[in-house]
Amino acid sequence: MCGIVAAAAERDVVPILISGLKALEYRGYDSAGLSVLSGEELARARTVGKVRELEARLESHPISGMTGIAHTRWATHGVPNEVNAHPHVSIDSVSVVHNGIIENHVALREELKGHGYRFDSDTDTEVIAHLVHHLRKQGMDLRSAVQAAIQRLHGAFAIAVMSRDEPGHVIGARRGSPLVVGIGIGENFLGSDVQALIKVTNQFSYLDEGDLVEITRNSIQVYDLDGNRVERRVHTSELSADAVERGEYRHYMLKEIFEQPRAVADTLEGRIASDRILPNIFGVKSDELLRRVRHVQIVACGTSYHAGMVARYWLEGLAGIPCSIEVASEYRYRQAVVPADSLFLAISQSGETADTLAALREGRQHGYLGSFAICNVPESSLVRESDLVLMTRAGPEIGVASTKAFTTQLAALALLVLELARMNGLAEERYLRLVNDLSTLPRRIADALELAPQIAELAERFVHKHHALFLGRGVNFPVALEGALKLKEISYIHAEGYPAGELKHGPLALVDEDMPVIAVAPNNQLLEKLKSNLEEVRARGGELFVIADDEVRIDSDGVRGALIKVNSGGNLIAPAVFTVPLQLLAYHVAVLRGTDVDQPRNLAKSVTVE
Ligand code: G6P
Repeated sequence: MCGIVAAAAERDVVPILISGLKALEYRGYDSAGLSVLSGEELARARTVGKVRELEARLESHPISGMTGIAHTRWATHGVPNEVNAHPHVSIDSVSVVHNGIIENHVALREELKGHGYRFDSDTDTEVIAHLVHHLRKQGMDLRSAVQAAIQRLHGAFAIAVMSRDEPGHVIGARRGSPLVVGIGIGENFLGSDVQALIKVTNQFSYLDEGDLVEITRNSIQVYDLDGNRVERRVHTSELSADAVERGEYRHYMLKEIFEQPRAVADTLEGRIASDRILPNIFGVKSDELLRRVRHVQIVACGTSYHAGMVARYWLEGLAGIPCSIEVASEYRYRQAVVPADSLFLAISQSGETADTLAALREGRQHGYLGSFAICNVPESSLVRESDLVLMTRAGPEIGVASTKAFTTQLAALALLVLELARMNGLAEERYLRLVNDLSTLPRRIADALELAPQIAELAERFVHKHHALFLGRGVNFPVALEGALKLKEISYIHAEGYPAGELKHGPLALVDEDMPVIAVAPNNQLLEKLKSNLEEVRARGGELFVIADDEVRIDSDGVRGALIKVNSGGNLIAPAVFTVPLQLLAYHVAVLRGTDVDQPRNLAKSVTVE
């Protein structure tokens, strides 16, 4: 949460900072601000709301400078108003932007008040500005002061700091939140991710946990946790600047929904040949480790958690390997008992979700065989800290509500499960058929996308609803959860996902003419049971929307609602295919309700705080 961008250059950095902030808006959009060194002065602009508000302010009150730091905020401490917006400044000289939470800010605030500092905001960040200022007054240069200040901070953070008295210098530091260094020609940058800087450079260095960096326009010096000078490798990013553009689509979310056939195809590319999963796609030493796996612990948050839930059905059903799954925020604080020969499997689009990372680090203390990450962001903390990695290759996902990240996670998880299943005696013929099914996934998703006009029409029937219930069974129960999550995230309609068999144990009490019920009905062994559950809804006059496999026959006479047909391609890939109409439904309902589809209220895409 919160996005940081900073630049030291020999040109006006304001346009660079604004463009960087726009790319980082997915991390938070409560307020935005920037500071630049304008001659001898530290100039600052801050506005409530999105980056475009800041841009408008700068048009009417322009400022410019060749050194600058900027921020887009997802409020944690203090309401989203202008006073709480970053950068925070101490005595017109030290300016700080911060992502994360400083847990001991109350104690530090008291201490600094004792030194005569006055606090303007309710944020935890302001203590950093005053602390650095205070240390500079003791005679330290900016780098030493930031180095000393961060020793005093408890919690997770990434920061960028500059001082009126050291023009041309920006100090960055990270502990628990991401920060990358962008290397330009005669100019250098800091950013919360590569996307923020891809328009100005494709050369990046990734900071390690605890690193501090000092950039000027001509130099980059990195120091580790102990203050020693270190070198961090320079990578060339393959991300194209176009990948983060919205193109002809009205929203990023719609673009990303429609990118799914390509994204899933990319996830599978070079990993399957002749209906077999190619050797070593999980890393050179993976074979040895995977063969020893007797239990899998999956940990994730949000949509990634739903992908993990699907994988649990597959793992136990196809590989015969017991699997547990838990949301990361619970797992990290629990005394989990780890069965022998367990693999820790973390799933995260961003690879920076604080709870998932903490769970991974916690897991490391508990004797797992090893850790495996399914992730979409190369060089993210999760990728760097895991033993084995399978990248999803979805490309940048900007819409806060996750879509292509989910279906590509399912594709990647299917690869892993099928490999484990093969190692654990899945019959050859079945293995070949399932790998073949998997390779048809891009095409089946493309077919499901053709439902878009039909779903857009259907969405009109949801616009005035206050609640919705999503039902699924077996491997499609997580699909119901994901459908409900999408709808609530972006349309603000209260929605819940339930296993259809559980309906009679509570939610049925809610079903009446005003409650739309959306059910996923694949043509599998649970179909007849699901039909009985649907009868229960029908008998209460509920409005029933069934997304069913082509061959499924459901008597729709006299039923309020609709039947939508897809070709799901069998149990393995069905969850990914069924998810597509549910994504489209949430999207069109949200558009009709006029919400901010790509940046729904109160949410952020990458949650790097607890
Ligand atoms: C946030 C996002 C969700 C996402 C979750 C986990 O809540 O809004 O869309 O599923 O974080 O993110 P991750 O990057 O770990 O998959």
